[in-house]
Amino acid sequence: MKDFISEYAHGKEIVDTVFEAASGAISAIKKHGDDAVVNGAFGTYFKEDKTFLTFDSVYRVFDKVPDFQKGKYASSIAGPPEFQEAVKEWLFKSAGLDIDADVIATPGGTGALSSTTKNTLAPGETVIHPDIGWGPYKTIAKENNTPVEYYQLFDGDAFNLESFKATCTKVMKDQGKVLAFINDPCQNPTGYTMSQEEWDDVLSFINELSEQGPFILLHDIAYIDFNQKGDDYKKLFEKFTTMNENVLTVIAFSASKTLTAYGWRVGAQVLISSNEEGRRKFKHACGNSARGGWSTVNNGGMVCFSEIALNENNKAAYMKEKNAYVTLLKERAEIMIEEAKDVGLPLYPYHEGFFITIRIDDQVVKNELHLKLKNHNIFFVNVYGGLRVAICSIPKTKLKGLAKRVKNVLDEIVEDEETPLKESGDETNDEANTTP
Ligand SMILES: Cc1ncc(COP(=O)(O)O)c(C=O)c1O
Repeated sequence: MKDFISEYAHGKEIVDTVFEAASGAISAIKKHGDDAVVNGAFGTYFKEDKTFLTFDSVYRVFDKVPDFQKGKYASSIAGPPEFQEAVKEWLFKSAGLDIDADVIATPGGTGALSSTTKNTLAPGETVIHPDIGWGPYKTIAKENNTPVEYYQLFDGDAFNLESFKATCTKVMKDQGKVLAFINDPCQNPTGYTMSQEEWDDVLSFINELSEQGPFILLHDIAYIDFNQKGDDYKKLFEKFTTMNENVLTVIAFSASKTLTAYGWRVGAQVLISSNEEGRRKFKHACGNSARGGWSTVNNGGMVCFSEIALNENNKAAYMKEKNAYVTLLKERAEIMIEEAKDVGLPLYPYHEGFFITIRIDDQVVKNELHLKLKNHNIFFVNVYGGLRVAICSIPKTKLKGLAKRVKNVLDEIVEDEETPLKESGDETNDEANTTP
């Protein structure tokens, strides 16, 4: 007898570790009061007074967007022309670049990741992700029936170029085509940002490998506007214009994350390739996916983003307001990193952004620590290779002393002879260990 669900929809039971951790934190707050709980599970920005961050420079512009603009469909599947222009202004002109690129509006960065996967790989073809990465990458792969190969993100404290090369080379050999994800800057969940030299090495390797078949580089820039270099980071995009004809770069941009208006669901795929025909075909395929998937993106959100990106005064007000919160992330990170160093709590290399990850190679110890911390009213997200601490949602007062509290619990676990310790490094990157 057949099932209600198709054979392709099996195995889709979703294990949402972030929502699970977040609901645990909320129940603990209800039971013990806010002061007693460290909620490091939420991946959204909370201010020092523990309220959700909204920018006046965004919402006062939004207030002025006419009601009909908020209610209507967008004028084009790829987003209104002003929105497409605004995205290019934001990503390229702000860094002094004039890049020939196509823009397709998507519901958040997620829409860009999903549509790119769907339109570059046939079901059964393999996508390449970092081993330590954002959990829903796997959900997207499952949705598109694409198996995943992982490259190791780190070699010590640096980007693991050799692993990236080996994984891409293998997949190119097997299927004659590569789609590889890189999340940079402010990588989720580690906060790592690649150096210019690391990018140069990656891009020159991609050029070389693309002689064997098409290479699609998915550059996920979800947290770009929370990096310390600001618009200077965007100068990197110029390098994408010098790639071989067989390379397509898709920048996955999340305008709603930039504006801390996560629920607006505004984002874009930004396509750069010297292969104009290939780019045109891909753009049409993505347009069809939009029409057949979500139709158009939230028009009011796109209009508001355009009003900020294309109006100097609005943009200046946003930058001023936002930059204070980039500084606050730095201050929060410094507390956690300094204290972790003092007490010997291992962290992955953090540079900037919303998240820091405590490094725990042994999966048994990691799972135990995750559970025991909950008993201490400390809530993190269990990720591959560690526990993600969302410094975007923890005020400085609660970060002070946190590393020591965690280290104490970790020491108890490691000292406990009953703990059936496994050899480190034997964790599989399975669904239960993802990072939403
Ligand atoms: C690394 C990464 N990529 C993409 C996204 C997608 O963002 P959204 O779809 O909310 O724009 C997120 C959201 O948390 C993320 O962390």
